[in-house]
Amino acid sequence: TSSSNHKMLKAYTLAANFYSHLLLNTIEGEKALEYLEKRGFTRNEIEQYEIGWSPVQSDALSALLKRQGFDMKEMETAGLCFHKEDGSGYFDRFRGRIMFPIQDDNGATIAFSGRRLEDSSSEAKYINSPETPVFEKSKVLFNFHRARLNVRKTGKVVLFEGFMDTIAADRGGIGNTVAVMGTALSAHHIVKLKRMAKKIVICCDGDSAGWGAAKRFADQLMDSGMDVLVATLPDKMDPDDYIGQHGSDVFSEKVLDQALSYISFVAAYYRRDKNLSVDHDIKQYVHEVFDELAHRCSPIEKDLLIQQLHNETQASKESLGQEFTKSI
Ligand code: UTP
Ligand code: MN
Ligand code: MN
Ligand code: MN
Ligand code: MN
Repeated sequence: TSSSNHKMLKAYTLAANFYSHLLLNTIEGEKALEYLEKRGFTRNEIEQYEIGWSPVQSDALSALLKRQGFDMKEMETAGLCFHKEDGSGYFDRFRGRIMFPIQDDNGATIAFSGRRLEDSSSEAKYINSPETPVFEKSKVLFNFHRARLNVRKTGKVVLFEGFMDTIAADRGGIGNTVAVMGTALSAHHIVKLKRMAKKIVICCDGDSAGWGAAKRFADQLMDSGMDVLVATLPDKMDPDDYIGQHGSDVFSEKVLDQALSYISFVAAYYRRDKNLSVDHDIKQYVHEVFDELAHRCSPIEKDLLIQQLHNETQASKESLGQEFTKSI
């Protein structure tokens, strides 16, 4: 119900304030603050994003919520706590983590992602709020409410995998970015992105998982009719790493502005695991690329693609042309 949703939002706001206070003003938060500073966060930014620290103590937030008169069953549904099996009360979902609030399209906090401190354990790097009546993962894009105006101004939206990438870009003055938070791109996400801009630049992590995600996103967004570009990063780097190392101006010029067309990206995607001095790999590469692209190439794109494969593989343009025609 809407009154129950309203209470959950109130609880999330209270929790965000509580976590933020612990991070900024208490000894308990010192280590996390140091960690964030090492990662380039300024105090200003920490306040602006309402980043916080969830205490290690198992029921700190639960006790606070209870004192404030929240219905604890509802708070469990909200994903902030769990009931103890022996019925003796509640304990917190997030303990000993750096807390990143996740906001809806109006800027209201509806969920958290909690990061473990580096090297502190073998637990999951991030723990997220579960799906709740106010948080549907498939509908949320991190930073959407902040990026909206910048996207309209620039006419394009940049899509990342991780919310840390968005924060890093924002820090360097690149304000038109959103992140999917590691999930699949849903139909809801796509509708949202399309409403924001016609043009999208996908920029996923430079590892295998990132290339796979970029390929899926690019296929989906092409099907949706958006103008798709794909920016690629050196192996084992993500946008946040790259910006940290080279700065956001270089990131803009060397990564975003050099983004590949869909067709060049698909070629690069299949070239990644090939050794193009081996005949078998050349054959496979050419087949994979043509199977996927031949039917969607315009005549000029066909020429460009054949020229590119010719340069890369030394196969003649004639035989590449024949293979192309066979694949349509
Ligand atoms: P990444 O592993 O690329 O995170 O996952 P990151 O942004 O680079 O994080 P840092 O720099 O190591 O701190 C991308 C996204 O996948 C989700 C998160 O939303 C993250 O932003 N994810 C990742 C999880 O939900 N849980 C995990 O354990 C890991
Ligand atoms: Mn990744
Ligand atoms: Mn990453
Ligand atoms: Mn990262
Ligand atoms: Mn063939």
